[in-house]
Parts: sequence; structure tokens; C-alpha cells
Amino acid sequence: MLDTSLTLPSGAVIKNRIVKAAMSDGLADSQNHATEKHCRLYRRWSEGGAGLLIIGEVQVDHRHPERPGNIALDRPEGKKVLRAMTAAGTIAGNHFWAQLGHAGALTFPEINSNPLAPSAVPVRGNQPQAMTEPDILDLIECYANAAAISREVGFTGIEIHAAHGFLLSQFLSPRFNQRIDDWGGSLENRARLLIEIVRAVRVKIGEDYPIAVKLNATDFQEGGFSFAESQQVARWLDREHIDLLAISGRIHKSDDDAVPDRAPSTGNLAPEGYFLDYASTIKKTINAPVMVTGGFRTRAGIMHALEYGLDLIGLARPLVVDAELPRKLLAGTTDTCPRAEDRFSFDLPFGAGTAWFQMQIIRMGNGMEVDLSINPEKALEMIVDFDHKAAQRYYKDLD
Ligand SMILES: Cc1cc2nc3c(=O)[nH]c(=O)nc-3n(C[C@H](O)[C@H](O)[C@H](O)COP(=O)(O)O)c2cc1C
Repeated sequence: MLDTSLTLPSGAVIKNRIVKAAMSDGLADSQNHATEKHCRLYRRWSEGGAGLLIIGEVQVDHRHPERPGNIALDRPEGKKVLRAMTAAGTIAGNHFWAQLGHAGALTFPEINSNPLAPSAVPVRGNQPQAMTEPDILDLIECYANAAAISREVGFTGIEIHAAHGFLLSQFLSPRFNQRIDDWGGSLENRARLLIEIVRAVRVKIGEDYPIAVKLNATDFQEGGFSFAESQQVARWLDREHIDLLAISGRIHKSDDDAVPDRAPSTGNLAPEGYFLDYASTIKKTINAPVMVTGGFRTRAGIMHALEYGLDLIGLARPLVVDAELPRKLLAGTTDTCPRAEDRFSFDLPFGAGTAWFQMQIIRMGNGMEVDLSINPEKALEMIVDFDHKAAQRYYKDLD
């Protein structure tokens, strides 16, 4: 079952059910271009055997990145290395998709001190400006162009990032979207931007190219995007004939962190998989294939989720520690996934756990092996420094 292929509505075939979920790698140069480090990293993950790799946080507008080292597709000079990267990332016959993002209020403040958001609601110390209607229409165009460039440079599909608190997820949330025009208020209005983006992308890239959407099952915030709303948005996306709905989430406790650690469950379907209950409930009401990511750490847990009808299982942190894990799971030579995060204590400074994985990804990009001995607090210092220096280079290279 794990090695059964999946044919998506667009006709694309994913060779097995394991996905390397989106992880922002921070490896782009100061002009948001792909680098040799990307080629090395994604080749390694391709050879690791997953049916689909998703590269996290590829920006549609370089002015609004999540981190300085994000690739941005509105900088066309970078296409040559992008092509080399997609060739390397598909070397083993897997799919390789770009997760198209815009950080909105959560943009990196050293790069952008004037973030845009649905409304002027401060987030994590950033004070955004509310987007105007022309800003919104430009953004739709920007997504469509980025999707066209993704196809042109050899990505085999795209994932629209509408989860984890970034711009499209801000639009969906009544807490961050307080607009009183056609883009805010009712759920239909809050979801309008996402739906319009899916439509514009489809028109631009045609019927035979996979479009996925990553959606929070809920953002677990009081006054935020609820599970009932997520189910409705899933049905609307299904009407747009998306190829894949990727379900994730975010909990209040780790609101600012990139990694959803765990989630309150709606039931008790499985021993693992933070969002499995949510995803399997949504799966029953839509036709599109559904992927679930978060917390899968055993072959049995993954099989359980597939038996519950989920189509693809996303793995993120385990594939940082062991890039060859999909091949091992498929061959049956291992039944468990590495759980490096279990070694971290709960009272670590905010962001240190994620920084540990970010450091390991940078090592992989440099052709080095994972170093399990790195201390997460030290990793946090190193990542803060790494991103700060990258932001300084960004400005220097603008001069
Ligand atoms: C270093 C790191 C970077 C991440 N970057 C992204 C990202 O760019 N986009 C995204 O949707 N999720 C991102 N995530 C979240 C993962 O895709 C995934 O949802 C999360 O790690 C839970 O899955 P896991 O338990 O298999 O690690 C990131 C996670 C980590 C550890």
C-alpha cells in the first residue's frame, strides 16, 4: 500500500505514498536565487525514495519572505540554477513541487519593515498595513505568474501555502482578517482570495499540472479559523478541482513556531498523526486526494492513516535526520522514523527545536552529515546569526 502509486486528477502519477513535506531551507542567495546547495539537498532527498518532494516557502514576491534565504520566483535571473535544482530534485523519478508562499504579517522584519496583511493587526511584533484592493489583485497575478515560472523551470506541481499563519491563512482567519469589503467578514469572503488564486493559477498553467493547497485543519486560536470553517473551505476547493488538499495545523501554544508539535484530537483514530482525525473527516466529504502531515513516526502509524483513506502521508523532521527513510520504509527494512525532537526538553527557548532542524538542513545543503550532538539552544543562536547575516547581504547586494 505504501508503494502503490497515486494518480491525481490532473493525470500526474505519484509513485508512492510518502511525501517529504515542505520545509523552508534558507539556502537561497542574497537575491533569492536557488544555489548549488539546493541541488545537493534535493538530489539527496530525491534519492531517498519519497514519491513527492515539496520545497517550502518559495516566495511569489521577494519583498515578503518568511526568511532571507527563501527562493523567490519574481526574480527571473535565477532560472538557470532553478532548472538545475528541479533536475536534481527529480533524479529518482519522483515529483518535486514548489510551495508558493507570501508571509504577510509574518514576514522577516529585517528584510521588510512594512509588511502587508488583510488588516492592520499586529503579529509577533510586526505592524502590517492592510492590503488595498489593487494589492490583492496584484497578488493573485503574482501567484499565477509564479505558478507559470514553476512549470517553466521544471517543478512538476505547486502547493499554495494557506496554512501556518502566513498571508493566505491570515485572510482565512477572522482574527487577522477584519476587513469589511468583499475580502473579509463572511467565510466566503475570507476564502475568496485563496479561491481566486487557485482559479488564476489553473487558467495560467492548464488542466494537466498538479495544484495542491496546504490548509490548517484549524489554527487552534480563539476567534480564529475553526475546523467547521476548514471543512467548508475544503469543499469549495474541491469544487475548483484541486489535485491535493494537504492538511496541517497550528496550536496556540506554539503559535509563532514553524512546527506544529501536537494537536488536540477530535477523537482517537490513531496513536499518531496530529491531524489525522481532522484530515480523515475532511477526506470523507471531498473528492480530491488528501495528504496529512505531522507526527507520523512509525510504519504502522503511516499504514493506519492510509487505511483510514488518506492518500499521502507527509514526513518532515524524520527526513532531516534520515534522508533515506522513505526507501527504508518502502523496503520494510525499518518500521520506525527518527524522533530527534523527543530529545529536546520542553522548556527550550521558543524556536530552538525548529532551529535544530534548520541547522541540519543547512549542513545537508553543504554536503555534510547530520550532527545529532548539536545543542538546540546553540542552533537557535546560529540560525538567528545565519538569517541576520543573510539579511545584511540582501541589503548590501541591493546597493
Ligand atoms: C525546519 C522546518 C521548516 C519548516 N518549514 C515549513 C515550510 O516552509 N512550509 C510548511 O508548510 N511547513 C513547514 N514546516 C512544517 C512541516 O512541513 C511539518 O508540517 C511539521 O514539521 C510536522 O511534520 P513532522 O512531524 O513530520 O515533522 C517546517 C518544519 C521544520 C522542522
